[in-house]
Amino acid sequence: MLPTIEWKDDAVVMIDQRKLPGREIYVSCATAGEVARAIKTMVIRGAPAIGVAAAMGIALGMRRSKATGTKQFATEFQRTCDLLAATRPTAVNLFWAVERMKHAFAAAAHDGCSVDEIKQRLETEARGIHDADVESCRAIGAFGASLVPRDSRILTHCNAGALATAGYGTALGVIRAAAEQGKQITVLADETRPFLQGARLTAWELVKDGIDTTVITDNMTASMMRLGHVDLVVVGADRIAANGDVANKIGTYGVAVLAREHGIPFYVAAPMSTIDLSTPDGSHIPIEERPIREVTHVGTSRLTPEGARIRNPAFDVTPAKFVTAIVTERGIARPPFQESLERLAAGSPQPAASASLPLPAAR
Ligand code: MRU
Repeated sequence: MLPTIEWKDDAVVMIDQRKLPGREIYVSCATAGEVARAIKTMVIRGAPAIGVAAAMGIALGMRRSKATGTKQFATEFQRTCDLLAATRPTAVNLFWAVERMKHAFAAAAHDGCSVDEIKQRLETEARGIHDADVESCRAIGAFGASLVPRDSRILTHCNAGALATAGYGTALGVIRAAAEQGKQITVLADETRPFLQGARLTAWELVKDGIDTTVITDNMTASMMRLGHVDLVVVGADRIAANGDVANKIGTYGVAVLAREHGIPFYVAAPMSTIDLSTPDGSHIPIEERPIREVTHVGTSRLTPEGARIRNPAFDVTPAKFVTAIVTERGIARPPFQESLERLAAGSPQPAASASLPLPAAR
């Protein structure tokens, strides 16, 4: 599997997801500003991957700081955190990662570290966030695979794969784990207008892994379900509110409503860093409006007439009542989510499968 994002010498290097599947090009970011731009322009995307990139961007930016005293260094650090936090509003993993970096900074300052030592601590923290994300995805996969019957036709929306995380994926982690267990898995990948994460990225990842994949346009989902071609749905998430409402890629809500109508289980796979207990319900989740060019154009070709108004909300909110279960690295939460998510966040014991898995610190 290709790395989504990694350190290389003095830079943070990421595969350019705007160019896939046509070209495998890597973008090398030498400054925090370049990492911020990469997140904003979708070189790297997907909630956990955005969080990892932000942490690495902060560490990179501070590594380059010329500050000699901790006071000036602290001012630059705050500015760098603000820069990364202002890139995309919906995925809470971004803010979670920035907070982790702030805590690492505060702990280092509290310990009386020098500027160079703080730089080292920040880099260690960013690497830790990266590595823990891969571990979380593997654990999510292990839990999620238990929900997947032996022969399953799985529908997914957007890309919640290795590209959207530090590796392995959340929703695609569940699919990968089930396939690795020898289950007969076929996948229906919604194309996911307008950015085509499903058609371009999910299909690219799954085909590379040898998993049987069919791409459908978003407006085929209802018919596929009605014809009995879908056994279960699994998607990722950008933010999960305390009551279990799920913000994810625009179109997810429609898929969830259709799944309910057709009696198909609708699973959400996400790490604990996506669960935001400070947001009571989905109405409080900020929804990013992206540039209208993503809708008006495909590549350089214009689709819409000049003069038509355009909307491009990048995410929607699926009410908790449509969610069958939420799969995390700590276990599987079922309704009522207010209680089950709180229990997971508190680190309460989970079913046997979790016993051998490392538990990241509670948020
Ligand atoms: O706009 P994107 O491509 O960043 O949106 C990504 C999604 O909506 C994913 O489904 C979500 O971040 C989960 S990724 C594991």
